[in-house]
Amino acid sequence: MSDVAAVEVTNLVKDFKGPFRGKMVHAVKDVSLSIAPGEVYGLIGPNGSGKSTTMKAVLGLVAPTSGTCSIFGKDSSKVDSRSEVGFLPENPYFYKHLTAAETVRFYGRLCGMRGRALKDRIEEMLELVGLQDARDRRLKGFSKGMLQRIGLAQALVQDPRLVVLDEPTAGVDPTGSREIRDLILELKTRGVTVFLCSHLLEQVQEICDRVGIIHHGVLVNEGSLDDLISLEDKTELILGNPSPDLMEQIRSLVDVTHGAELVSEGRARTTLESLFLKETQGQRTGSTQILRARKSQKRATK
Ligand SMILES: Nc1ncnc2c1ncn2[C@@H]1O[C@H](COP(=O)(O)OP(=O)(O)OP(=O)(O)O)[C@@H](O)[C@H]1O
Ligand SMILES: [Mg+2]
Repeated sequence: MSDVAAVEVTNLVKDFKGPFRGKMVHAVKDVSLSIAPGEVYGLIGPNGSGKSTTMKAVLGLVAPTSGTCSIFGKDSSKVDSRSEVGFLPENPYFYKHLTAAETVRFYGRLCGMRGRALKDRIEEMLELVGLQDARDRRLKGFSKGMLQRIGLAQALVQDPRLVVLDEPTAGVDPTGSREIRDLILELKTRGVTVFLCSHLLEQVQEICDRVGIIHHGVLVNEGSLDDLISLEDKTELILGNPSPDLMEQIRSLVDVTHGAELVSEGRARTTLESLFLKETQGQRTGSTQILRARKSQKRATK
């Protein structure tokens, strides 16, 4: 059983009726992806590319036009597929007259939690998302970032095995955004599977094991972060304390000389952001960065 995927999407197609009669919106076109237990998987793509629709199909919140989705081997159309899942939607809706603590209690009870366990869990969750000081404040006075945090608390209250986060850092300030990143990394160390989408590519690059790029409903690229952002035909030398002289020798000899330490050697990397732009806008990547590296090397030798 242990090799059952946490999330399996097979040939998912989702069409919506568009605003004009007879015209269909092809939100997702034949997407297949698989997320292993314990993995942090990031789905990135421009606005309207099909990220939220894919997530909702996984959660059984929209019915696929064709194809299937499953969670830990259970078909997403079955209610019990969601028994161990936490979800932070794109635009979470809350009862604004409830306080932060009451909100977490409400969702905990919905998940069947009661008594001491729930009481302890409420405090644990509020601390985890940094809302202890606001525990007795009503949500109607909460900022966007605070609402996002309470959304995370409700998604995590029942200690799920899979967490689906649709733009977890939307509207959160840079500090809060880093805290959410750390929280996701903490979930990973606890073995929780995370399926997220985000427009913060730097953060996706920092926390995801694997990434899928979706564009116009098509998964145009997918793979481990290492593979995705490695450039096959480029090699990078990272030197500790290289003298300008040595840099000169390296340029002419392309060799390693004593006095400098070869720290590592590997394929040069692009950024996830450049790859994203290339896949979604047809831009070239790689050469600019190499040139930039050359320019800064020249500056360093002056
Ligand atoms: N319920 C719906 N009815 C009609 N069209 C929909 C519906 N939900 C989504 N769509 C359309 O499907 C396409 C994909 O939408 P989706 O919300 O999945 O994009 P997204 O990648 O999550 O975008 P964003 O980054 O803006 O959140 C869009 O063209 C959207 O207008
Ligand atoms: Mg979306």
